Order: sequence, then C-alpha cells, then structure tokens
Amino acid sequence: MTTSFSPRLSQQVQRLRPSSTIAVTSRALEMQRAGIDVLSMAAGEPDFDTPAHVVRAAKAAIDAGKTRYTQVQGIPELREAIAAKLLRENGLHYTPDQVTVGNGGKQSLFNTFFALLDPGDEVLIPAPYWVSYPEMVRFAGGMPVAVPTRPEDGYALDVEALRAAITPRTKLIVLNSPGNPTGAVFPEATLRSVGELAQEHNLFIVTDEMYEHIIYGQQHVSVARFAPEHTLTVNGASKAYAMTGWRIGYAAGPLPVIRAMNAIQGQSTSNASSVSQWAAATAIADSREFIEMARGQFQQRRDRIVAGLNALGLPTPTPDGAFYVLADTTRIHPDELEATRIILDEAKVAVVPGTDFLAPGRVRLSYATSLETIDAVLERLRLL
Ligand SMILES: Cc1ncc(COP(=O)(O)O)c(C=O)c1O
Repeated sequence: MTTSFSPRLSQQVQRLRPSSTIAVTSRALEMQRAGIDVLSMAAGEPDFDTPAHVVRAAKAAIDAGKTRYTQVQGIPELREAIAAKLLRENGLHYTPDQVTVGNGGKQSLFNTFFALLDPGDEVLIPAPYWVSYPEMVRFAGGMPVAVPTRPEDGYALDVEALRAAITPRTKLIVLNSPGNPTGAVFPEATLRSVGELAQEHNLFIVTDEMYEHIIYGQQHVSVARFAPEHTLTVNGASKAYAMTGWRIGYAAGPLPVIRAMNAIQGQSTSNASSVSQWAAATAIADSREFIEMARGQFQQRRDRIVAGLNALGLPTPTPDGAFYVLADTTRIHPDELEATRIILDEAKVAVVPGTDFLAPGRVRLSYATSLETIDAVLERLRLL
C-alpha cells in the first residue's frame, strides 16, 4: 500500500541534533562491512569484560527469580550499596531514599533536566563538553550556555568565567570531572569555589562523576561535599566496572529532586533492569581490584598515545582522567570535520571530530583499546 501521509514529528524532536559521533561510527562500520580494516578510536566504553564476581551475581539473581518489576527508584539493596559507597569513597551523607537508579547515567541525567528545567532556564556547561548535555537541556526546554575552557590551561575551569556567565535566568551548573572529552580533573579548590558560587546565587549543581575511578595521580573530589543542598551527584556502573550494556546509572541529592525524578521515571521506563540492579549492587559494594587493574592499564595507554601524538606533530595535552585525548589536528586540516574525514579515508582510523564538543581544530581519540591497537593507530597516522 502506498500513501502520501507523512506523520508530523514534534518541534521538540526536530530540534535534536544528530550526533557527529554516530555519523563517524556508522561511516566506519560501513567501511568495515565493505572489508576495509578500520581501527576505531571512537568508542565511549571500556574494552574490558564485566568483572566475574559481577556476572556471577547477575546469574544468581536470574536463578533466584529476581526478574520482576522493582521499585521505580531501584531495589533497596542497590540504593543501600550506593549510599554506603557515596559515604565510603566520596564522604557524602545520603539515605537510600535520596538515591534513585536509572537506565544508565544517561537516563538519570535526562530525568534530572526534566525535573529541574522550565522553558528558558539557562544551564552553564564548561566546554568542551559531553555532547548529550546541551541536547538534553534543550530537549527539556532549557538553554545551554557554554563556558569555555582552554587547552593551554589543561581545560581548567575558570570560576570567574562561570560567575560572569550567570544571568537572572541561570538555574543550573553542570560539572563533569574527570571530563569527557577533555579528561580534565577539577581540583578541590575549584570545586569548593563552584559550591560557594551556587550558594551565593541560589543555583543548583548537577555533577556527573561517571569517570571518578579512571583518574591518574589525582584525587577525585565530589563537589557535593561543599554544597550538599545545592548538588545532585550523578554516577553509574558503565565506566567504573565495565558495565555499559547493563544500563545502570544513579543520582543522589535533595529529596524533592529525587522524588521528582522518580515521578518522571515512573511514567517512562518504570525501573532499571532487575538483574542489572543486582549485578550493580555487587559491583558497587566492592570492585577495588578491578578498578585498580583498569586504572593501571588506562594510564599506560594514555602515556603511550599522548607521547605518540605529540611526536607526530599533533599537539595533545596530557589528561588526568577518563580515557580520551583531544588532539590538535590543524596540521592535517584546519577544519576538524575535514581532518576526521582524512584520518578515516586515508589512515583508516575512526576518531570523533571536536565540533559538537566545542573543541574546534581537535579530534577526540578514545584509548579504551589495547596497546597494540594504539601502536597500530600511531603507525597509520605517521603517514598523514
Ligand atoms: C560524561 C558522561 N556522562 C554520562 C555518560 C552515560 O553513561 P551511561 O548512560 O552508560 O551510564 C557518558 C557515556 O558516554 C559520559 O561520557
């Protein structure tokens, strides 16, 4: 049957921007399907398997019939494990009621912005930033406002620049340390000042601490320590315990915000997968050995890729956390989209252009790959 009818999509969805990350990944996949040997440095996930003790917990949960709907905010055992973790590792005091579990940190952030934003509310986001923040903010009716940071300062956050960006419409500040894509880690003094700024101006901080355990020679500090009533801490199982496919994220903060997020989730996805929740409870309770192993490997890879890229005339600052580097590719082409295309077509390496992150002239490489792959990538880039 043919018809000329075409459903009218919402204005809202038409405003969503297609991600350039996905564009590159699909092009690289097409090339791979055509038999071309493409090395991907585009992944946003650890390349390790989920630790065995976590997998065993999931299997035990299935065998015990833990396969039904759970409480919207998550099983009490997981929320207790999260509250205990936040106290043990971050020095934060939350009751399990102040914790809500979502389908990945992504859903927790989505619920957060929908719980907090009214049309026109401004949200300050240090840039370069993870591309989903401005998209989610816009989708929820808010206005993302980028607060630039500079590669020559190691992408340090300038609190005075943040202060200068505040207007009567400002409602939220988004922090992400260690950051994607910069790998920058904000020091305690900066976080303390942001906490004070939030208190002074009655603002609320949304802090995404997804990469807290992937950090090199620095101490992760939670901004909620300095302004607990003004902060929602978002975290998850994806990056710390190599659990991206299990889809477990969480948020902890003031009860009214958590309740609002629960109300949104109750009318959307209901709850995160029951089996994944049991697995995450085990992961969060104790995975020190895995975390140490992963951090050691990531650090070796970071050192190898940073040294290699700089030696190739692609200036790359050394990040203190996460598993990404931002390389200056202006030597290949001043426009990062064009540089990305050249790197893919000529070197057969998939990277992500800095365009959507607000990192012009740079591309992001993820080093969540083996040292052998990193060496092979550097060898290919040598030809450009
Ligand atoms: C900064 C940041 N926050 C949140 C997420 C979302 O992670 P997930 O939804 O897998 O928990 C990601 C994933 O790439 C990320 O890079």
